[in-house]
Amino acid sequence: MSFDKQLRIVITGASSGIGEAIALDLAKNGHKFFLTGRNKARLQKVANKVAEKGGIAYYGVGDVGNTDVVESHYTQALSHLGGIDVLIANAGVGYFGYLEDITIEQFDEQFSTNVRGVFLWLRKVVPLMRQQNRGQIIVTSSNLGLEVRPKASIYCATKHAVQAMVRALREELKGTMVKAATINPGAVATPWFEGRNVDRSKMLQVSDVVKAVRLIIEQSETSDIDHILLLPGRK
Ligand SMILES: NC(=O)c1ccc[n+]([C@@H]2O[C@H](COP(=O)([O-])OP(=O)(O)OC[C@H]3O[C@@H](n4cnc5c(N)ncnc54)[C@H](OP(=O)(O)O)[C@@H]3O)[C@@H](O)[C@H]2O)c1
Repeated sequence: MSFDKQLRIVITGASSGIGEAIALDLAKNGHKFFLTGRNKARLQKVANKVAEKGGIAYYGVGDVGNTDVVESHYTQALSHLGGIDVLIANAGVGYFGYLEDITIEQFDEQFSTNVRGVFLWLRKVVPLMRQQNRGQIIVTSSNLGLEVRPKASIYCATKHAVQAMVRALREELKGTMVKAATINPGAVATPWFEGRNVDRSKMLQVSDVVKAVRLIIEQSETSDIDHILLLPGRK
């Protein structure tokens, strides 16, 4: 898609980290956004910053795993934007530790946010994009959607689930001009790690992830990126 045209972009999990960074960077091209998350004050701040950079932003507050919330956000997004060219399904949460130490509540929250939240948006946006015969879906998966590591079993399971969801969706979208891709970053220095005793100096930066998102959105009609795996350059 060309950045010369004003794109209508939905970003879930836009109140912080990767989602916020994508919104602020793409705002420079004057696009229109519908941003979601649970924290109204943070969304308002991001929307203001988008406007300062030249974009137009609306937002919806609520849990991405809740059907009524997503139905309402989808309706609001359509009425504010007049259509959706790009969906960035990015909201996510992670709890880490040995499998037996993950609580049932943490299991449910991860699957609700990372898997159900993606499904709820896809089931609304895919029919719209099919009708337009145009659109780009980007799901924030993880390197842990492609591989596993200890003390991340349930998080890995959620990201493998979305990876499979997008792979199968790509098969279903064959013959259309609707494209779906995942971005698969390793550790990215975001508020995700706040309060966790980890060294962020060797992590990817949000700007690295933003570049991958731009590459996917800007790809030409003759290209259909499947996924972009980003690993930290500093070892
Ligand atoms: N940081 C990393 O190392 C890394 C690496 C690979 C993949 N990822 C993935 O990247 C995505 C973004 O993570 P991040 O690093 O930017 O973390 P972050 O700064 O913690 O941002 C997470 C975003 O998701 C939203 N969110 C979480 N639970 C939600 C819920 N139930 N309903 C609606 N929104 C919800 C948060 O908004 P509210 O708090 O306002 O609800 C926030 O905007 C996630 O899918 C994560 O799995 C992160």
